[in-house]
Amino acid sequence: MNPQHEAPKVPTDVGAAIRAMKAEIRSTTDVKDAFDRLSDRIEARVEEIEQLRDSGRPVWPEVDHDTLAAGTASDETVAAVRDRGCLVVRGHFPRSQALEWDSQLVDYVEANDFDAVYRGPGDDFFGTLGAAASRPEIFPLYWSRPQMLARQDERTATVQSFLNHRWDVESEGTRWFNPDQDCMYPDRVRRRRPGTDSGGLGAHTDSGSLERWLLPAYRKVFRHVFNGDIENYNPWDAAYRTDVHEYEGGTTMCSMFRTFQGWTALSDQQNDQGVLHVIPIPEAMAYILLRALQDDVPEDELCGVTPRHVLPVSQEWHPLLMRALTPIPDLQAGDSVWWHCDVVHSVAPVEDQQGWGNVMYIPAAPQCAKNEAYAASVAEALRTGMSPTDFPDENYEVDWVDRFHPEDLNAVGRRALGLA
Ligand SMILES: [Fe+2]
Repeated sequence: MNPQHEAPKVPTDVGAAIRAMKAEIRSTTDVKDAFDRLSDRIEARVEEIEQLRDSGRPVWPEVDHDTLAAGTASDETVAAVRDRGCLVVRGHFPRSQALEWDSQLVDYVEANDFDAVYRGPGDDFFGTLGAAASRPEIFPLYWSRPQMLARQDERTATVQSFLNHRWDVESEGTRWFNPDQDCMYPDRVRRRRPGTDSGGLGAHTDSGSLERWLLPAYRKVFRHVFNGDIENYNPWDAAYRTDVHEYEGGTTMCSMFRTFQGWTALSDQQNDQGVLHVIPIPEAMAYILLRALQDDVPEDELCGVTPRHVLPVSQEWHPLLMRALTPIPDLQAGDSVWWHCDVVHSVAPVEDQQGWGNVMYIPAAPQCAKNEAYAASVAEALRTGMSPTDFPDENYEVDWVDRFHPEDLNAVGRRALGLA
């Protein structure tokens, strides 16, 4: 089955739908008062981040993989993950293992003559946020051995479980997902070579843009925000998150609920070389939602939101939030980084990049009905070598040699694909 069949349709008149939504929310909620109260809270959070940064103290919480595996992460670390919505896991894989995988990915690409067959970017998901490139930085590859071995590794399952448990899994009388079992979400690879000039990627969030204001399930996720009851909004409440679907028709979307988006470094990375930044304030999403409902935003617009693209966050509309944009620390190959599904992120521009910038995207996507449905389609795509249905229909790997096959799955991988 194709999970996109469940996907709702973009309204035919987006502007009219936005106007109607705004009128409906304003009929019961004083959106200016709610936004003003929330702005005071967010400003305090932004100042806290700025003070940490100015005093040279870490903003991103960090933990060693072995500490997670032993279940001995400190209360302070655990609290910091909820506070900032992001985490660096040191030694998720041994550095030597990550470097070996990086070189095996090059072998895979070269053995299958990717340079000769590459047809250019298959999507415009990032719209004007991304700069055009003739060679890919994002490789539309899903089924290499290194990617699959990392996805089905017990070490990854340990990290995912820790991250899933940061959420309030039970609320409103429902257990929304199983934090101890993930579903496999295959995503792509980024390889950026030394000497690269890159325009980076503007600040945004994934997993729905217009959807967050218009779809009934997202309106329930953000019920306290739209009701003006912002003191009770909890970005870690799992309620209704697993009921959300993105609009159909995008070439790139996410059909799974991800507690955290993440990637694993396949090269050492200095944090001034065009790296990932986040706004480490998970409740900033509430600010973005209410900002778009203020009187100075045209009635049929939402601060630059367009259907089927990521949700943009900008200096023009969100200068307060942009002050908190903070880079990852320096990383070694084998470290992984993670950010809550609402957390705003960007990739800084770089000129003449020093060293490689190589990562494998592997998120945390806990077991629930929505994720199991997509996992079934992933199992089928693994069998055929086609691109997963959330991504452009590029299908480069169908005939490739050295592809990972279903018989190479271990117990973790089979469970994550619903094949156990
Ligand atoms: Fe993103």
